[in-house]
Amino acid sequence: MSGPADWWRDAVVYQVYVRSFADSDGDGVGDLPGITARLPHLRDLGVDAVWITPFYTSPQHDHGYDVSDYCDVDPLFGTLADADTLLARAHELGLRVIVDLVPNHTSSQHPWFVEALAAEPGSPARARYLFRTGRGPGGSQPPNNWLSVFGGPAWSRVGETDQWYLHLFDSTQPDLDWRNPEVGDMFAGVLRFWLARGVDGFRVDVAHGLFKEESLRDQERAEVAGGQEGANEGAREMVERTVADEPMWDQPEVHEVYRRWHDILDEAGPDRMAVAEAWTQTPESMARFVRPDELDQAFNFSWLLADWSAAAFADVVTGTLAAVDSVGAAPTWVLSNHDVVRHPTRYGGGPRGLARARAATLTMLALPGSSYLYQGEELGLEQVEVSSEHRQDPSWFRTGEPGRDGCRVPMPWGGQTPPFDFGPAGSSPWIPQPEGWAGLTVEAQAGDPGSTLEFYRAALAARREHARGLGAEVEVRLDAGDVLELRRGPLTVVLNCGDTPTALPQGEVLLSSAGLRSEGGATYLPADAAAWLRSAAVQPSSAEL
Ligand code: NOJ
Ligand code: MG
Repeated sequence: MSGPADWWRDAVVYQVYVRSFADSDGDGVGDLPGITARLPHLRDLGVDAVWITPFYTSPQHDHGYDVSDYCDVDPLFGTLADADTLLARAHELGLRVIVDLVPNHTSSQHPWFVEALAAEPGSPARARYLFRTGRGPGGSQPPNNWLSVFGGPAWSRVGETDQWYLHLFDSTQPDLDWRNPEVGDMFAGVLRFWLARGVDGFRVDVAHGLFKEESLRDQERAEVAGGQEGANEGAREMVERTVADEPMWDQPEVHEVYRRWHDILDEAGPDRMAVAEAWTQTPESMARFVRPDELDQAFNFSWLLADWSAAAFADVVTGTLAAVDSVGAAPTWVLSNHDVVRHPTRYGGGPRGLARARAATLTMLALPGSSYLYQGEELGLEQVEVSSEHRQDPSWFRTGEPGRDGCRVPMPWGGQTPPFDFGPAGSSPWIPQPEGWAGLTVEAQAGDPGSTLEFYRAALAARREHARGLGAEVEVRLDAGDVLELRRGPLTVVLNCGDTPTALPQGEVLLSSAGLRSEGGATYLPADAAAWLRSAAVQPSSAEL
């Protein structure tokens, strides 16, 4: 692929949740040929790269984040040949491809874990995972008090024995022991396998989790109201973590792994990259993952966690830029993904939620670094209330909480009724789509200048034209009321988080997320909206041209 070797530093990356993007064979589940057929949508949208969630062999207990063969494609999604075709077609269209890597845990059906369960305590087969002796009489209690991110204890007992194994997620996702060199060697091979097939990069799942404090000591945590312990239960908690003592996350040893991976990526070519999914507690700890000899990027979840407030957004921008600057890395921004409530819904839902979502997106796209978009946000999709018989998120089964299925409803492409061209006519998507999505399909929105799809296309085009190459300096201003102004060279973005319209500063309006009003020589930006301006003040004068 042509382009700069560090293309990812300012890329817009589009996340495809494979089972919900496009279903070519009518089994109700999205697949690789489905993605390939829909790649022109991504080219027309104007993104630079696509990140595809796991499509490897998997029993699908956590929709592919439970891998039983890292070097093959699950038949549900296609074949290795389909993966090759997808890569080739994406590259033809000028799109880079990032694949997911799941190194913290395997599936419980991975041959290693099957072998471990059949082997004796203390055997080399068990030493690839974190088996420990339980506490209490007969070892009938878990070895420590850790909780699974999906709810309940982070340990499952091996039959009636005193042995337990650790799973920070579902019991079908046993954690590997990264202190065992066999584990690191296996993943070095997996990286090389996919790099040789031509992938441009990796999204590293649970990048902050691979090492646990060696003692596996209890976690110190406050009891919270209602008798529930800690803050790690349920996927919702992934965005609301308040636990400070985290012996299971973000241990210093993990960085050695990323130094090794850095070299493997380099060997494959100067333009291969990796982005860490690391829910660390501070911008500083996030920055450690992107030191010059480690991974290239880390998701910056602080943008997604921030409240709808100019002051909160200002803090995130300032804190993020300072943190990545300290290690010379490029920042990233993200508002939605397959683990969180879609951002129009987070911002209150309905027309107001959508207005705010568009404004937050436009603000994000003006910032230096790269932006990650989640499939369907370009259509303004909201979180869906999924009825309990259709829920599949393992956290639902472990906690009874609704979980993440509501942001994973299959994409509406065209037509008037489900499956909205997600799959062939008559097929039934794995989660039913709302009837009301007829007006939100790609087909319905394309060509309508007021639609969210056309807004995204225009915003991405404006980013290419006016924001790319502007440098990393951002002046952050918090003006009267709840208005944020971010200045990046000649580009200014104004975000109105307040309740009343605000007068825009001088400059040429390039784009706005909502209609503007002119009165008495001033132009007003409504509440819940953002606009990009090219500042008149820093335009070169005609004498300089
Ligand atoms: C983070 C992924 O984004 C999420 O979907 C998954 O459930 C967990 N990691 C466990 O792999
Ligand atoms: Mg299918």
